[in-house]
Order: sequence, then C-alpha cells, then structure tokens
Amino acid sequence: MADLPLSGRVAAITGASSGIGEATAVALAQAGAAVSLGARRVDRLEALAARIEEEGGQALAVECDVADEASAHAFIATTVEKLGRLDILVNNAGVMLLGPIEGADTDQWRRMVDVNVLGLLYCTQAALPHLRDSGHGHVVNVSSVAGRTASAFVGVYNATKWAVTGFSEALRQEAAMSKIRVTCIEPGMVETELPTHNTNPAVIETIAKMKEKYGEVLESEDIAAAILHAVTAPPRVNVNEVLIRPTGQTR
Ligand SMILES: NC(=O)c1ccc[n+]([C@@H]2O[C@H](COP(=O)([O-])OP(=O)(O)OC[C@H]3O[C@@H](n4cnc5c(N)ncnc54)[C@H](OP(=O)(O)O)[C@@H]3O)[C@@H](O)[C@H]2O)c1
Repeated sequence: MADLPLSGRVAAITGASSGIGEATAVALAQAGAAVSLGARRVDRLEALAARIEEEGGQALAVECDVADEASAHAFIATTVEKLGRLDILVNNAGVMLLGPIEGADTDQWRRMVDVNVLGLLYCTQAALPHLRDSGHGHVVNVSSVAGRTASAFVGVYNATKWAVTGFSEALRQEAAMSKIRVTCIEPGMVETELPTHNTNPAVIETIAKMKEKYGEVLESEDIAAAILHAVTAPPRVNVNEVLIRPTGQTR
C-alpha cells in the first residue's frame, strides 16, 4: 500500500457506523489510510472494520459518544495509542430532528446541539495537538446545505449546522499557523438513515415529497469522494468549503 495517496496516514472518522461516515471510512482506507471508526453502535463499526481489513486495509473500531466530552477525548486518544498518530479528523457524526419550534421536545434540541456542535468541538480540541504533530493535519467538518439555507421547521438543525460552518472558518484561520487544513463539507439531500429518526408525521411526509421532487438524491459515496478529494489535494491546496446538492435540489 506504500504508493497509495494516504499511505502512512491515520484518519479518525466520527459517525462511521452508517451513511456518509461509513462511505468515507471505506474511501480513505482504499486510499491507504489506517482508519479509526467512532460511533455508538460498535457492532456496526466492528463489521465495517472487518470488511476494510478483508480488502487489505487497516481499521480500528472504537465505541464512542461524541456528545460525552470524555468519550470524545478517549476516541482520539485510543486512535493515537493504537494507530500511532493522527493526520485527518472527519467530524461527521450528526442527528437531524425536524419540526416546529413551538411545542418542540427540547430534548431533541439538546441532542442536536450536543452531537452536531459540542461533539464536533470536543473531537476537534482533542485532535489538534496530534494534527499539529502530524505536519499535514486536516480537519473535515460535515455541515450541510442547512448550514447555508434556513427553512421553516428546520430551525434548530439549521442553527447547529450554521455553527459548524462558522466554526470551520474560525478554525481554518487559527489552524493555518500550524499547517492544519480545514474543510467544511455541505451536502444537500443524501440517501442515509439520517431522516429516519424523525417521528413527526408532517416532517416525514415533507421529506418524502422533497425526495420525490428532486428525482435523484446523492449517495454517501458522492460525499466521500469530495472528502477524499480535499484530503488528497497537494499540501499547498486548502479546500475550504464544498457545497454539493443533488442536481434536482433547488434550495
Ligand atoms: N443525509 C443527508 O441528507 C445529509 C445532508 C447534509 C448533511 N448531513 C450530515 O452528514 C452527517 C452524517 O449523516 P448521515 O446522513 O450519514 O446519517 P446517518 O447514516 O444517520 O449517520 C449518522 C452517524 O452519526 C452517528 N452518531 C449519532 N449520534 C452520535 C453520538 N452521540 N456519538 C457518536 N456518533 C453518533 C451515528 O452512529 P451511532 O448511531 O452508531 O452512534 C451515525 O454513524 C451528519 O452530520 C449530517 O448532519 C447529512
């Protein structure tokens, strides 16, 4: 694997148990990186790690809850301890629970803020010293089109993704001194488990209608390809922001 673009590099990916995180882990492993897979469903991480290793890659499954500061720090520490270094952090774990602001279950708000915002901050803070030591560190934050375009009934998810987009730009400026690159990825609608956690019937119906209207939505592999592009770009190139919509998505 010595001649692959990410040979010798280590990437930690949060939310690697499904969707975009899983596809990104596969793409980075195929490009030669040893991948550390973080999420709560450790059985899925172990199955993915086994699949990556069967294909000749190196993978480590680490049970973690990014919303828990100690668990987020332990994810990064375990990665470095077991894989020897850290070059790339993909902050991908996220939840999207939509509905009206009035009468909302505020536990759902807290979950989104805890995972989408605080989880990303905890992992980033834990990773920064290792990324600096790497000499070519890279943080990839998965925001959303929802971090650029707000909509009714998406308010709190919008707020969390706006936070990710804003934080990414501030981090980019701060980390540039340490030669750490920062990329903010903003996907439109991708076919994953993400919307399936919604329970509000009106939300479920609206998502189904939007999907029908767009015709064809993105696949997780489309986002993984954008992440791979950013992390394999020459060191002088810092891909700061990538906004990707399905061709039929208008907003
Ligand atoms: N799908 C879309 O249309 C779309 C569009 C724009 C942006 N995004 C963003 O893309 C990212 C990935 O989402 P996805 O679409 O791939 O959905 P997904 O398949 O539901 O994946 C979400 C991942 O986040 C993990 N996660 C959730 N809570 C966690 C926690 N407390 N600690 C650690 N991991 C946690 C889940 O793993 P466990 O449940 O095993 O912990 C899962 O692996 C999210 O940030 C999402 O906001 C998605």
